[in-house]
Amino acid sequence: MCGIVGYLGDQEAYPILIKGLHRLEYRGYDSAGVSMINAKGDLSVYKEKGKVSALEESVKEKDVTGTIGIAHTRWATHGEPNATNAHPHYSQSKNLALVHNGIIENYKVLRTQLEKHGKTFQSETDTEVLVQLIEYMQEKHQTDLYTAVQRALTHVIGAYAIAVLDQRHPDVLIAARKSSPLIIGVGQNNNNAHGHAEFFVGSDATPIIEYTNQVVYLKDEEIAYMDRDGNLRITNLANVEQTPDMQTLQMNLDELEKGGFPHFMLKEIYEQPNALRNCIRGRLSIDTKDVILSGVLDNRRRFIDANRIIICACGTSWHSALIGKYFIEEAAQIPVEVEYASEFRYRNPVITSNDIVVAVSQSGETADTLAAIQLAKSKGAFVYGICNVIGSSIARATDSGTYLHVGPEIGVASTKAFTGQVITLIMLGLTIAKEKKTLSKEMFEMLVDELLQIPDKIQWTLDNNKDIEKFSQIFTYAKNFIYLGRGYNYPVALEGALKLKEISYIHAEGYPAAEMKHGPIALVDEEMPVVVIAPKKGMYEKVVSNIQEIKARKGKIISVVTEGDTTVKGVSDFCFTIPDTRDCYVPLLAVIPLQLMSYYVAIAKGRNVDQPRNLAKSVTVE
Ligand code: AGP
Ligand code: GLU
Repeated sequence: MCGIVGYLGDQEAYPILIKGLHRLEYRGYDSAGVSMINAKGDLSVYKEKGKVSALEESVKEKDVTGTIGIAHTRWATHGEPNATNAHPHYSQSKNLALVHNGIIENYKVLRTQLEKHGKTFQSETDTEVLVQLIEYMQEKHQTDLYTAVQRALTHVIGAYAIAVLDQRHPDVLIAARKSSPLIIGVGQNNNNAHGHAEFFVGSDATPIIEYTNQVVYLKDEEIAYMDRDGNLRITNLANVEQTPDMQTLQMNLDELEKGGFPHFMLKEIYEQPNALRNCIRGRLSIDTKDVILSGVLDNRRRFIDANRIIICACGTSWHSALIGKYFIEEAAQIPVEVEYASEFRYRNPVITSNDIVVAVSQSGETADTLAAIQLAKSKGAFVYGICNVIGSSIARATDSGTYLHVGPEIGVASTKAFTGQVITLIMLGLTIAKEKKTLSKEMFEMLVDELLQIPDKIQWTLDNNKDIEKFSQIFTYAKNFIYLGRGYNYPVALEGALKLKEISYIHAEGYPAAEMKHGPIALVDEEMPVVVIAPKKGMYEKVVSNIQEIKARKGKIISVVTEGDTTVKGVSDFCFTIPDTRDCYVPLLAVIPLQLMSYYVAIAKGRNVDQPRNLAKSVTVE
């Protein structure tokens, strides 16, 4: 996820672009760049590692004049965050410059083909193939920029929002999108005979709102042509003309940054279907029913021969690791241990060179997790990282790994990173299982097939539990909560309890449901809300018995049940519904209502959900 800004008009582009980049920095900020065409017709590209302010500093002495330009703030997916990999990218002749948000899945194939045609590449990004391919199309077919972009995009698999400049056409700006957002702002005076045409491009409306409220949301596979005469032409990849659907923006700036949501946490909860589609993009194939995790396949012998896997993590990442353990052991038949990184690093654990240590960390900067992998490396283990932040310290310190690709997580309470970690650990388990041949072909394909359905099922869960907000207010009185789950859902109980504690400051504990009777049941009275994850799977009957035990002590039951269930619903005071899925995938659905409930309880108690007291997003101290 990154931020794109573009401008074409009669004002100086650079100040508009930089201001827009600052607005989009919440989408990613590991590097930034701008490109302008000046009055002499020269196309410049300036880029810098780090935040937009670092870019501003570095261009102080440079020529940043020009009334047409594009800009980018990057959240790297391919290639570490540095100035070379930052956008915009030049084409080989330096006639074109391009910015991109998304992932080009077939970039390796395209790059090899383009290299055969004499193109040389400067960066490690997937993005650079786009600008080189567009130039190749211009050269091969002697076409204008618009047609070249259109032709190039028909060869591309993946997600993109792009903006392109050509120094030979300083009056034209081209933009296109598929699966990544892109908005065109149409200047207020464009239709006025005496006015000056202006166009703006943005990943969202925040860079545009102060100049115009007239916008067109580009649709998938649409390409837009904009020029200084005020022409806006949109076609699809098949060159069929599309009528621009002009809309009037109603939101203010703060709402826009949060995508219309009041808090980043809520936005990130609702983002999960798309974030997870990005996470599995290029890794799970719907056609071949396969899993391709290059970090594992490049080291396949290591994984096949490993004695055991040790997963080190903290907090929410530790909970996803526990689900990963259950799945990897079941699917790949390899022993897995899950360790609190903070304990592991200080207790002189037995680690051999046949062990694989997996570090799970959203930020990639957690000091305890970093120290744990350093210890593992010193003992000769192979270290695999599962991080969200590209180029983070943990990602750099590991031997190999997989990025989550769920986009920046801003809310302190982790939500989309948790589901991204669970899916990534499942893909890891499936990949090892395939290499070790521990699953039948039918079972493997069925698991892949069902995993591909999960983003849609999360969407269903979000759409069908709208009363959570209303009923969460009832529980603001509670001083304690208990969360229960069995098997794959025990870690979900832990995660549900952590979410509530973190942002509402209500004490909550998660237990394996059957452990209740060994102690915690003494806490149950008519004041005590007990959240039970009770899908119609696995140990369903046993969980129903656990519920009865709590009911008999007058506890308030809040349950998470499978669509169509009436038994648990009948004995619950409140009920959330999730679609049916395989046992091992239930956590990905069951956690959604628990995230929402903690959010709404916290809101009802007037808490600062995005920045809860005493917590930090990345814990870089011991
Ligand atoms: C999650 O809601 C928490 N804020 C926290 O437990 C977090 O998961 C933990 O600090 C680990 O962070 P990491 O994934 O960035 O390493
Ligand atoms: N895939 C591109 C890169 O790694 C764009 C990433 C983004 O959308 O932020 O540079």
